[in-house]
Amino acid sequence: MEIRVFETMQEASVAGAEIIAAAMQGRAHFVLGLATGSTPVPLYRELARRNAAGELDFSGTHSYNLDEYVGLDGSHSQSFRYFMDDNLFHHINIDPANTHVPSGTGADHAADARAYDAAIEAEGGIDLQVLGVGNNGHIGFNEPDSVFHAPTHIVDLTDSTIDANSRFFERREDVPRQAITLGMGGIMRARKVLLFAFGAVKADAVRAMVRGEVDPRCPASILQLHGDTTVLLDKAAASKL
Ligand code: GLP
Repeated sequence: MEIRVFETMQEASVAGAEIIAAAMQGRAHFVLGLATGSTPVPLYRELARRNAAGELDFSGTHSYNLDEYVGLDGSHSQSFRYFMDDNLFHHINIDPANTHVPSGTGADHAADARAYDAAIEAEGGIDLQVLGVGNNGHIGFNEPDSVFHAPTHIVDLTDSTIDANSRFFERREDVPRQAITLGMGGIMRARKVLLFAFGAVKADAVRAMVRGEVDPRCPASILQLHGDTTVLLDKAAASKL
């Protein structure tokens, strides 16, 4: 893992956008894995700025998001589809038909999960995956567990994640209890991974990810085994390294 520490999250996000732009350079077809949460918002603003300035072209980009809440469709303001449209897709020249977010509202989640993995594979795999990290070390919605789950799957969210994400909902009871998430296999197959973490609230998870054992109880620790992962931190998130 390459660890880079910046004074501010804004600087880390600009550096991340630079890495993405360099990876996309000259590529007529590019598969970009995307994440939600508050962490990538400044990155998405910077990508949109570069697009508006004519510096970055998304017309050949196919995006695949990590996860979605079970039970929320794209019209729900807390769904990850809504978040992505609102924070990125509506502000760049990506073809909406090329943006993919797992569906958490289908009748057969297992079939939807298999189809999602198959679609990524048919696309040639993810070129670059953007990640945040949960306070408990989750990536996507791969929660701490006794094993790593490889394929896209349904997961029961932990109390810690429900608590953390309740800030986006009116009431804690409104936070969905389940999600559909790309599994560890999908994340690890991405050719390049950029993980962002900001704030003191992430410092323990960052330490466990970087310095701890590779252990499914800190899902992000598996990235120690990924050959091309860059971790972009602000000072607070790096404070326990
Ligand atoms: C979520 C997402 C993750 C994200 C994490 C941290 O619920 N499923 O992809 O990295 O929580 O969120 P935040 O960036 O808001 O701290």
